[in-house]
Amino acid sequence: MRMKLISVVLAALVATLVAVPLHAQVEERPIPHLVKKDGRFALFVDDAPYLMLGAQVHNSSSWPSSLPKVWPAMEFLHVNTVEMPIYWEQFEPKQGQFDYSMIDRLLSEARQHQVHLVLLWFATWKNGSQHYMPEWMKLDLARYPHMLDRNGQAVDSPSPHSADSLEADKTAFTAFMRHLKETDPQRTVLMVQVENEAGAWGSVRDFSPAAQKLFEAPVPPELLAAMHVKAASASPNWQQAFGPDADEYFHAWSVAKYIGQVAAAGKAVYPLPMYANAALRDPIKPGAAGQPGAPGNYESGGPTDNVLAIWKVAAPALDLLAPDDYQNDPAAYLKVLQLYHRDDNALFVPETGGPDNARFFFSALGLQTIGFSPFGMDYTHRAADRSTNQADDSRPQEEFLIPWAINYKLIGPMQREIARLNFEGKLQAAAEEQGKTTQILPFGSWNAVVSFGAARNNRGAGNPKPTGRALVALLNDNEFLVTGYFCRVDFRPAGTEQQRKSQHIVEGSEQNPSALIDGKWQHRQFLRVEEGAYENGIFKPIRILNGDETDWGLDFSSEPVVLRVTLDVY
Ligand code: DGJ
Repeated sequence: MRMKLISVVLAALVATLVAVPLHAQVEERPIPHLVKKDGRFALFVDDAPYLMLGAQVHNSSSWPSSLPKVWPAMEFLHVNTVEMPIYWEQFEPKQGQFDYSMIDRLLSEARQHQVHLVLLWFATWKNGSQHYMPEWMKLDLARYPHMLDRNGQAVDSPSPHSADSLEADKTAFTAFMRHLKETDPQRTVLMVQVENEAGAWGSVRDFSPAAQKLFEAPVPPELLAAMHVKAASASPNWQQAFGPDADEYFHAWSVAKYIGQVAAAGKAVYPLPMYANAALRDPIKPGAAGQPGAPGNYESGGPTDNVLAIWKVAAPALDLLAPDDYQNDPAAYLKVLQLYHRDDNALFVPETGGPDNARFFFSALGLQTIGFSPFGMDYTHRAADRSTNQADDSRPQEEFLIPWAINYKLIGPMQREIARLNFEGKLQAAAEEQGKTTQILPFGSWNAVVSFGAARNNRGAGNPKPTGRALVALLNDNEFLVTGYFCRVDFRPAGTEQQRKSQHIVEGSEQNPSALIDGKWQHRQFLRVEEGAYENGIFKPIRILNGDETDWGLDFSSEPVVLRVTLDVY
């Protein structure tokens, strides 16, 4: 009798365990979200600012066969977040039948490797085309049409005016988001990218009859208001409102409206932060409509810098618009960061690359980026020379990864502190620019002086290659966190706000940075320079630097070194 009772109780217990979904046993964490305060943004993860130290895998690496080659590279890079695609064709091989196996696999492996994920919804658009649409859609062109160009020819790009394509995308995306909601209470996934580099290469816009009808109709009033259009008529059509930019603006509106609806449908079931990424136009010399550099030479309709305002009105469900920054000209690279760091847009760099661009992670930090992510950072490809993208077996893959890996090796252990200091507006950073050997980071009564290739005389000559990067943050009055690579950092007294306004400040040229302020010399004195590291949010010093290590300023080479510096004047 007693045995029978025990087995009944056991059976009931097992039945309960089986009936309770697995995630019910996992602590449910707060949903990641974007917060804006005092004009600055932060991504909140577990209710505190978080910095995504990311890397994106190659396009075809989100398959079980590729994952073993992904994780060692991610470890080498010291990432805390991996960007991985979800392929619509894999997810919905037959209409209405969803295959969740790959999502489950990514969640489980990411958790094993203790990283977060940003999932990329490769669906209606991937680099301007519909190549990731499921086969059942590709074979039904009447229902899921391509765009038509001016001559009525089909373009290798989906029409944003197809109600059926939109419905299919919304349905699939919602199923994907619902599954995430149900299976990810621990919030392994931090954000979702909706589509990938949407827009069109082959035509400035859709010229199908449906599109043409809309193009000739009045521009939506909310867009006229946002763009401050002053037209002769109260309800101008696109040509009347926007003249030479009409085609591109129309396409941006159409693509953004479509993606905004996909994002809104997904957010309605699970409100993770969402964004769209942009294939950029030349940020410095974009070219007027119809000229070299005009749409056609870049992807038209995506969130390029000239149409961000259109995207903001058309797709409010997107939390941010993000640049894929591959610019090889440093001035262009930095300009892109500035263009996407706006009062209405948090900076996030979801893709980057280029042989010498790793140092610009620091420039992005200086603009309060919430994350940064070089592209194609796994071992599923042979080592490639990133300047030519040619396979190069003569050099180990690590050689290409090291410039990126050192960033995260340094910042990783204190990413929470860095994210918080940035959110509080206390952090500034800089990367070396060719021919610019010194940069000043102003912190009220102190100027942090960053120099590259500096010798004993404190004059920077620049590094042989521009690799320098520096970060300075205010911890307390006269107390700073200082770190970087291949640079020297020192501090020069900058007087009070009133003294700075009066401009009676002359910089000295002695060994220790000094300034003649209102007729009185003030020289920088290091009261204490501690080398250490953050552990659970607390700076733990390991030694006090003095002598050769501080006599000429604070030098940073290829070793990850973090300093807490207390200053005074004499
Ligand atoms: C940008 C795209 O967004 C990525 O998916 C990938 O195609 C890279 N370009 C290739 O460099």
